[in-house]
Parts: sequence; C-alpha cells; structure tokens
Amino acid sequence: MLPARKHLESLWQARVKGMRTMDELAETASFGTLLRKYRQRAGLTQTALAERAGLSRRGIADLERGVRKAPYLRTIRQLADALRLLDAERDTLAATVPRLGTSFASRQLEGAQQKQRLPMALTSWKRASQLSVLGAHDEFPPPRSLDAVPDNLPLQVSSFVGRQRELAEIARLLAANRLVTLTGAGGCGKTRLALQAATDTVDAYPDGVWFVDLAAVADQQLVPTAVLAAMGIREEHGRSAMDALAEFLRHRQTLLVVDNCEHLLDACARLADTLVHACPQLRLLVTSRETLSIGGEAAWRVPSLALPASNQTPATEELAEYDALRLFAERARLVRADFALTDDNALQVLDVCRRLGGIPLAIELAAARVRALSVGQIAERLDDQFRLLTGGSRTALRRHQTLQALVDWSHDLLTNAERVLLRRLSVFAGGCTLEAAESVGAAQPISRADVLDLMTGLVDKSLVVAEDSGAGTRYRLFETIRQYAAQKLLDAEEAADARDQHLAWCLELTKDAERGLHGPQRRSWLVRLDGDQDNLRSALAWSIGSPGRCRGGTAAGGQPHLLLALPRESGRGP
Ligand SMILES: Nc1ncnc2c1ncn2[C@@H]1O[C@H](COP(=O)(O)OP(=O)(O)OP(=O)(O)O)[C@@H](O)[C@H]1O
Ligand SMILES: [Mg+2]
Repeated sequence: MLPARKHLESLWQARVKGMRTMDELAETASFGTLLRKYRQRAGLTQTALAERAGLSRRGIADLERGVRKAPYLRTIRQLADALRLLDAERDTLAATVPRLGTSFASRQLEGAQQKQRLPMALTSWKRASQLSVLGAHDEFPPPRSLDAVPDNLPLQVSSFVGRQRELAEIARLLAANRLVTLTGAGGCGKTRLALQAATDTVDAYPDGVWFVDLAAVADQQLVPTAVLAAMGIREEHGRSAMDALAEFLRHRQTLLVVDNCEHLLDACARLADTLVHACPQLRLLVTSRETLSIGGEAAWRVPSLALPASNQTPATEELAEYDALRLFAERARLVRADFALTDDNALQVLDVCRRLGGIPLAIELAAARVRALSVGQIAERLDDQFRLLTGGSRTALRRHQTLQALVDWSHDLLTNAERVLLRRLSVFAGGCTLEAAESVGAAQPISRADVLDLMTGLVDKSLVVAEDSGAGTRYRLFETIRQYAAQKLLDAEEAADARDQHLAWCLELTKDAERGLHGPQRRSWLVRLDGDQDNLRSALAWSIGSPGRCRGGTAAGGQPHLLLALPRESGRGP
C-alpha cells in the first residue's frame, strides 16, 4: 500500500475510533453524575453554582439527582461556563445527555448505523450540545426558540438591533414561498437578518433549522457537500452529495439558511432548484449579493437601517428609536461604556448615520471610532473621505461606494502592523485561532508576540470578529472586509508568501493531529480539525495549484496530511 494511503487509513481509523469512544463515554456516565463531579471539583455548593450560572438551585439538584435528564443547550453552556470546564470536559458533559426516541438525533444515529456515519461535526461541543436540546422539559427558564428544535445557528456575540418590520416581511415571504433570497450590497445586514429570521421561526420547523455559510467554499462542486457537512451528515460511497441531501430532506420539515451564495450562483441555483422540487416540506432562506434567478424564487432587497426622512429632525428620544442610531449607540458603548445619545450629540450621530446610508457594517466601523474621536470629529472626517471619492461634490454616494469609503477610512486609521496582520488574515477560510494567526501573521514586520495585541486592536475597530466557538476563541473577518483585505494582500505582493505560510501551518496542524488522535486528547483534536476544514481545503487547493512555489517540497510531503484531515465527502479524503 502506498504510504500516503496508509496514512489516510490510519487517521480515518483513529477518527472513527474517536467517535466510538465518545459514544461509549456518553453511555457510561450520566449527566447528573458528571455535573456533581465537576461541581465538587470546583469547590462549589449547588447554591453557589446556581448563582454563578444564573440558574435555580432546585434545577441543579434535579439534574444531579437525574430527575431532569435533558437540559437545554443554553443550560449546559451556562453550567459549563460557570464551572470553567475545558473544551474536552464540555464535550464529555454534553455527550452524556440521552438521545431520545424519535428525535432527530436518534434518526441521525440510526443513519450512522446504516453507514451514514455520525459525522465528526457531531462530536464537537456545539453539535454534541445539540443532542441535548431534543429532550423533555426541565425547569430552567423557558427556552428561547433556539433551544427547542435541532439547529446549528451560530450564537451571535453582539446584540441584534431593531428590524421588526423587515423580520415580519421575511416571515411573510417564507410563509408564502419555498425559496426566499435576501439580496443587497456587502455589509447591509443580510446574514444577520437571515439568522434572526431563522431564530424567530425556528419553532415552525420541527425537523430543524440549519445554517450553512458558503463564504469559504471556493469550488462550485462542493456546495452540496458543504450543506451536508453543516447538517452533520456524512456522504455515502456511490451516492452524490446532492442525492444524499435530497433524500435526507425529502420528508423533513426543515429550514435551510444558505449564506453568501454570490460567488457560487450556478451551483446554488442548482442546489435550490433540486431541493425545492425533491423536498416538499423544505424551505430555503438564501443570502446573496445577487439573486439566484430561478423559478419560484422570492427575492427581497434588504433595506438600510431605518432613519428619519431627510426633511425631519426629531427630538432625541424619538431619534433614539431609529434602528440606525440605536446600532451606532450600542456599538459605541462597546468601546466607550459611558456613551449615550444626548441632546448634544444625537444630531451628529444622525448626521453620521445618514452619511453612511444606514449601512450596518459602515455604522459599526464608524461607531468603533468613538473611543478616540468625538462624534463631531467622526462626521467631519467622513465628509473629507467622501469628498475625496466624489471629487469634491457632495452628491450622495452609492451604497457600495459608501461602504468602500468607510472601509478605506477604517483601514487608513490602522497602524502599519495592524494593516499587515489584517491582510494576512485574509488567507484564512472560515476564520482562525490565535495560534494560527500567529503562525501565519508573524513575519516581517510582525513578531509572534505582537499578534495578540494587534488582533485585539482589529477586534476593537470592528474589522475582526472574535467568536467563542466552544473550542476556544476564533477570529473571523466579515466577507466584505476579507475581500478588501485580500485585495490589499495582492497589492502588497504578499499573497503567495502568506498562502505558503498558511499551507505550512495547515501541515503542522495535521501532523500534530495525527499524533494527537492517537492520544488522550483525541476528542479535542477531532473538534479542532473539524473547525478548520475550510482552511485545510483551501491549503490543499493552494498546494495542488502551486506545487513549484511550496517551500522545501512541503507540497509533496504535506498533501497526504492535508488529505487525511479532510472528510471523505470532499472527494479528497480516504
Ligand atoms: N439588525 C442588526 N443588529 C445588529 N447588528 C447588525 C444588524 N444588521 C447588521 N448588523 C451588523 O452589521 C455587520 C454587517 O452585517 P452582515 O454581516 O449581516 O452583512 P451582510 O449583508 O451579510 O454582508 P456581506 O455581503 O459582506 O456578507 C455585522 O457586524 C452585523 O452583525
Ligand atoms: Mg453576509
């Protein structure tokens, strides 16, 4: 057998074993027993844990005694946070929650026995937690709709503002159409609105609400695969991903949210068309800068955040009710806790939001500046920036020019090192950990030790989002910003070097993973590899596409490792 093939098989076996071990663990320990063990280790009484987790003592007592066996996802997360559990411990705790009778999870497990293997994604903390949301009620505060049916909707770290009219419109469109596409320029709030609409209507889909972000998918052919992977279904040999998907969804009442389709319009149109015809109870909510343009599509353009009409100047209390000003104030408070809309600044904030055309991403970027500038100063600088763009005229800018100007401005205000790190971060697909950013970002003029501070600066300025993935913090660029940063990387003629660094980091990751998967940390390694699937795919594509450029023969030596870390359905795995 070829060595690469052998590698592939050994890693595959280890992964399968890892899944089995997790299931065995889940079968042998009860949630209550583990909870008590972790609580006692933390030296907490039930009352102290209840206070720390924001839950009732009685609820914790019932869980420990096994009276309540299926806590909600949010409850488990609150407990895990309060107990300061490590990632692997969170996994173990979540995995003890029973999978109930006819639940989605059981169906998944039955599927697994028929070779539709329980996917690696399901072993991650988040997915394992999802298994917990399927059961009986517990006495903790009534669940938000997110906890009632299976879903993989990402939890948002920042508050959602307003949009009541838009949400009502999307609900109406979804009730009347099986395919709804939210369109609009970058940063206008498509993703956020789709996620909120999905969250609000989650109860209408007993078989689940699934979210798949296609931003990091470069290959049209991988679209059905990406959807399968997001839903935690592994593809079978001899059956296409599209067929597997259609069959899985055929009799299910499900909402599928497909985000960022603009670069894969043909494949997304094919996917939507096939699924809508094959799965009568499925609904699709798509976001894309352009419509899919297929029959049955209800396309809806996402409007800007609400602002008063240009001839109106309402009083401060009334202004504070408009979505655009509310978003500005909320985001400004993130960087200056005492920020408030007052009679002194409300009109200036209105002015800024108007100049920004009510575009949420632009408003967030501007609001992040109140740490160092007054609102009046921000307004003045915007004016200069826009005048540059319009050659001195004060004509209103088109939406994408407005955002471009804002992103330019935000970029110009970065330190040189921040700019360098930002553009290097654009090579990551699907975000990265701090360690990954250090490996790829640290090269002249940035040292490894600088990366954390620089990253913090980029998060403060709203150019990078920090998200708690359950397996530690991950850093992600909004698609608009990632594309902007990728262009800067090309302009700086650093793209090939950065991608080589990215490839080298992926190779290290997979080599470490190969060892880790045979050790006691197997489960955390599965979760880590799972979180970096898009990065691995992207590195593999670079490695295949530029064999001559990869240093020291890493491409030839490394591909097997990349291959083996990729799941079977990508067409790259074993
Ligand atoms: N209603 C809202 N409340 C709070 N934040 C919002 C809202 N709408 C948008 N945002 C924020 O504005 C930013 C841009 O929004 P979003 O990512 O949804 O835009 P998008 O249209 O999907 O952009 P892209 O085309 O780049 O994917 C995000 O930080 C998002 O959280
Ligand atoms: Mg988006």
